[in-house]
Amino acid sequence: MEEKELGFGIIGCGMISNWHAEAIRAIRATRLVGVTDTNEKSAFEFAQKNSTVVYHSVEDLLASPEINVICICTPSGMHAPLSVKAANAGKHILLEKPMALNLKEADEIIAACEANNVKMEVISQLRFADAVKQLKNIVMRGDLGRLVSGDIYMKYYRSQEYYDKGGWRGTWKMDGGGALMNQGIHGIDLLQYIMGPVKSVFAYARTLARAIEVEDTAAAILEFKSGALGVIQATTSIYPGSPRRLEINGSKGTIVLEEDSIASWTVEGCEMPEDIALGHTNSKASRDPAAFSIEGHIRQFNDMADAIRNDRKPLVDQYEGRKSIEIIMSIYESSRTGKVVEFKNLT
Ligand SMILES: NC(=O)c1ccc[n+]([C@@H]2O[C@H](COP(=O)([O-])OP(=O)(O)OC[C@H]3O[C@@H](n4cnc5c(N)ncnc54)[C@H](O)[C@@H]3O)[C@@H](O)[C@H]2O)c1
Repeated sequence: MEEKELGFGIIGCGMISNWHAEAIRAIRATRLVGVTDTNEKSAFEFAQKNSTVVYHSVEDLLASPEINVICICTPSGMHAPLSVKAANAGKHILLEKPMALNLKEADEIIAACEANNVKMEVISQLRFADAVKQLKNIVMRGDLGRLVSGDIYMKYYRSQEYYDKGGWRGTWKMDGGGALMNQGIHGIDLLQYIMGPVKSVFAYARTLARAIEVEDTAAAILEFKSGALGVIQATTSIYPGSPRRLEINGSKGTIVLEEDSIASWTVEGCEMPEDIALGHTNSKASRDPAAFSIEGHIRQFNDMADAIRNDRKPLVDQYEGRKSIEIIMSIYESSRTGKVVEFKNLT
């Protein structure tokens, strides 16, 4: 049977919207119906490059009956108000990370999606890497034994020019945070995806080397609901930056990922599967914000299209997207108060 075409609209025609347009082209039975941007020049150039049309306002785009899914690619501070508008217009939503800038906004999005019965997928493309899927399976099967520790290290380089150029980057109002809320959220999502719910956090967040409002460096100690302990380290101000590193240790084994590749695998009685060879780490990713593959977005767009067509939950729905926001908010609170923050809802 022929699949019904899904129409997409994009709000925000900056850097990341290129990944969205390419992902829409790459998946079956989809079409980019139109785009909008408060900067009309950006919208027209982007529309021309992607053979689509410009809508002059968000309201016009949302009124199009040909559009089923709205991609939100604006600065992060606009994610919540635009998601609520899109949900109220009855559109499914592919929302760039971070889902929102705080839990109040995240809950407003959740309420709007529930009230309008629309699906949301929050972009967290690293979850779709083969190595991550393998790691998730092996942890779920219990092959690592009792989980003992889970650590994520995200030591990146972003120049002062990177912050100055965007205008919105590095501000509380539009970025909502720095090394954690903008860059680190990817790894934080992976950590909680693999290790399970966080029970408590103690943390420091500091602005050490960049002239920005938000943190450029943070360190946190976590206790997971399982009893395992963990560490989050995130910075955007070290030179030259190193690859993201996720270390998962259990009583029967250790697996380490560098970027999207398995850097080491030592598991009692369980050889590394042959179909995932030790990967090649993209060493540019830690210092170039555009140096990442389109593959993760394509896989996540496929997940969303399939979720819509088969009326199932997408992998990173709004409830999943909220989890990393809660962890980051707790880190900020702990750093501000000097106290351990206990999580109320351990799901
Ligand atoms: N998934 C990833 O790996 C990844 C990578 C980069 C950026 N992002 C996220 O994508 C978002 C955008 O980042 P970017 O680097 O593309 O930013 P950008 O500054 O390059 O682009 C943002 C665009 O949104 C437009 N815009 C601003 N307010 C708008 C509004 N109210 N309505 C319509 N358009 C509006 C701007 O004019 C600009 O063209 C951020 O939330 C960021 O965190 C995700």
